[in-house]
Amino acid sequence: MAPSAYIAPVINSTLVFRDDIFKGKVLFCTGGGSGICRAMTEAVMRHGANATIVGRKLDRLTQAAKELSQTTGQVCIPAQADVRQPSAIQDAVTKTIEKFGRIDFVICGAAGNFLAPISGMSENAFRTVMEIDTIGTYNTIKATLAHVRASKGSFIMTSATLHYNGTPYQAHVSAAKAGVDALSNVLAVEEGPHGVRSNVIAPGPIANTEGMTRLAPTSGKEFPYPLGRPGDVKDVSNATVFLFSDAAAYVTGQILAVDGGSEHLRTTQLPYPASVLDPSATLKVLKARM
Ligand SMILES: NC(=O)c1ccc[n+]([C@@H]2O[C@H](COP(=O)([O-])OP(=O)(O)OC[C@H]3O[C@@H](n4cnc5c(N)ncnc54)[C@H](OP(=O)(O)O)[C@@H]3O)[C@@H](O)[C@H]2O)c1
Repeated sequence: MAPSAYIAPVINSTLVFRDDIFKGKVLFCTGGGSGICRAMTEAVMRHGANATIVGRKLDRLTQAAKELSQTTGQVCIPAQADVRQPSAIQDAVTKTIEKFGRIDFVICGAAGNFLAPISGMSENAFRTVMEIDTIGTYNTIKATLAHVRASKGSFIMTSATLHYNGTPYQAHVSAAKAGVDALSNVLAVEEGPHGVRSNVIAPGPIANTEGMTRLAPTSGKEFPYPLGRPGDVKDVSNATVFLFSDAAAYVTGQILAVDGGSEHLRTTQLPYPASVLDPSATLKVLKARM
């Protein structure tokens, strides 16, 4: 009988990293009121940081900030801002400095998405996603950079893997995330000499998130993943803690796919993962055909 497929464990970063490694540090996170970026914020706070979370919906942000503070014992404040508006992001930064006095870590995570083929997408729809994802990331970098330089801190951009290939109905997000990746690469090179690092986390499909629940017609569980399952928000959080930590002091300008290896998996004629779990059965079928 073929062995059953391995399923990667989901763990808390506090099992691997000390819970005080970010003591005295401050995180500024756009998109932190929900989903993946909220989980990234929680993880950084669990290691001792305080945080500002940024988004447009003040009610949701305020509730999330309260819960994050209660869960972690650190301080999280909400800052209402649209990342498309440079002055609004600047105000959120000013609020952060007034409250905490510094910014060490920045997560550029605010993003928009919907499903549409190029043939059916308006110019305005395409522009909106470019403005939130790419220009929003640029605006966030510009508003925070002086503070991150002062603290010799670090940026993480939340990107995706879908632009590595042609993903139908995702032209707008693909173009926008390619821009985000490029911004991070240039930032890493320009700011390295100032002691600032910048990296990208590219999540694959992450279960139980807005992105998967609202946009994917299926749960994503039926896709083959080399590590046996779709992503969990904790997988992205753990990568976040590593990249902000001193363990990544020599890591900059990198794009870290957190996708269980699926970016490298192409569809083949062979059943996957059955063909690698039980090669003899697969070879028997192939030989019988020869
Ligand atoms: N879910 C996945 O499987 C997946 C896969 C690959 C990549 N990603 C990436 O991971 C990140 C989080 O995704 P998610 O699924 O967790 O989605 P989500 O919960 O919808 O998070 C998006 C966040 O961005 C904020 N936002 C959107 N437009 C904004 C704007 N103009 N100004 C300020 N904030 C804005 C939203 O808050 P407001 O509405 O309050 O503004 C929300 O908190 C995104 O960058 C996404 O592209 C997700």
